[in-house]
Amino acid sequence: MDSRPRITVIGTGYLGATHAICMAVMGYEVVGVDVDPAKVDRLNSGEVPFFEPGLPEQLAKALASGRLRFTTSFREAGEFGDVHFICVGTPQQPDSEAADLTYVDAAVTALAAHLHRRALVVGKSTVPVGTAARLAALLTSLAPAGERVELAWNPEFLREGFAVDDTMRPDRLVFGVTSAWSEQRLRAAFAPVLAQGVPVKVTDLQTAELVKVAANSFLATKISYINAMAEVCEATGADVHDLAEALAYDERIGGKFLRPGLGFGGGCLPKDIRAFAHRAEELGVGQAVGFLREIDGINRRRRARTVDLVVELCGGDVAGKRIAALGAAFKPNSDDIRDAPALDVAGTLQAMGADVRVFDPAAMGNAAKAYPGLTYATSALDAARDADAVVLLTEWTEFRQIEPSAMAAVVTSARIVDGRHALDRATWRAAGWEYRALGRP
Ligand code: UGA
Repeated sequence: MDSRPRITVIGTGYLGATHAICMAVMGYEVVGVDVDPAKVDRLNSGEVPFFEPGLPEQLAKALASGRLRFTTSFREAGEFGDVHFICVGTPQQPDSEAADLTYVDAAVTALAAHLHRRALVVGKSTVPVGTAARLAALLTSLAPAGERVELAWNPEFLREGFAVDDTMRPDRLVFGVTSAWSEQRLRAAFAPVLAQGVPVKVTDLQTAELVKVAANSFLATKISYINAMAEVCEATGADVHDLAEALAYDERIGGKFLRPGLGFGGGCLPKDIRAFAHRAEELGVGQAVGFLREIDGINRRRRARTVDLVVELCGGDVAGKRIAALGAAFKPNSDDIRDAPALDVAGTLQAMGADVRVFDPAAMGNAAKAYPGLTYATSALDAARDADAVVLLTEWTEFRQIEPSAMAAVVTSARIVDGRHALDRATWRAAGWEYRALGRP
């Protein structure tokens, strides 16, 4: 058996592009496939179509090696690949909490027609548990090679902003398989990662699907837990910042994902917990994860409470007030604005009559497309010029490094809401700012 399978990656969005590029850098022959010819052209010419630190350099390396190319042809993919990774998106359906599986089904269907020899198809997309078993049957029925085409599940845990590192050196690999052959093929496809001693957990298909949503649900729960404590702190005058630090010393709890503030957004955590709750209900075990709706509710309240705090700071009304909004992306080191808490807050303040001026180091283009009514500034200081209040919404390093006195010099009123608990309260207050953060006196 070929020890280095040839790889195809179907879908070249965030996950797929990173996976294809990193696999090629790790020495595999890779073909990336996308239905969008413009995206394929950009990638082939060395351009990463989204912001991800370090990825453009890896793409240049992969293309120079001659081991990576992108195509729109499923025929080419089917003829080329031994192991095919499915990396297409599973967004929330427009009118339901369920995941939209249109792209996954379309990718598997389009690929299956060209599978004439033994091959492994590996799902990486986040899907409702039970999807893999259905896709396995679909593949067998559609592929000319029939039962010689197997399906495995290999959930992806990479974080935006750390995508290259998380792909090259993940915390763990999960292989959901139905045969020893599939496991062997996956081990061959991840040989350089496994050689570093990365642990691998081999499971059945449904456990592998569940690991992913269980992990994201746990992370969302940690964030909403500390934000729930912030609500209690607000009612008592206690300080959630100190509370979180004190909790983190307990190694069983740990400090990661315990940063209070505006809460979680992005293309994964919010839609994954909703789709999981929905799927559990379909399976008759909705009660088991009913708490996820509470997690979602706590998270949504953070956005409303941040708006309230800005209004409060502005004396009860923001109509006609100029507000500087620092940040648009759902988190730093990303240009992703999907379900971004920052833009939700900025948009709400604008709808209340405020003149909101937004600045983000990477997400301005995406933000302007989605929220054309907001005003976009050229820098944090430009956004803050003549502002009646400043609100920090995404904790970019450059915002953490703002000199409070320099910003005080350009605003009308030195008032700031630190929506991400990212600034040093004492320093800002010492520079004359009225500093407010949720859950902190
Ligand atoms: C998340 C998971 O962390 C990844 O493991 C997973 O692979 C990915 O979803 C996915 O399913 O594709 P990501 O969405 O890139 O990754 O972002 P995170 O770093 O998890 O941050 C999510 C949100 O939580 C951000 O809005 C962030 O600002 C917020 N957050 C994070 C907090 O509010 N507090 C924290 O302590 C940590």
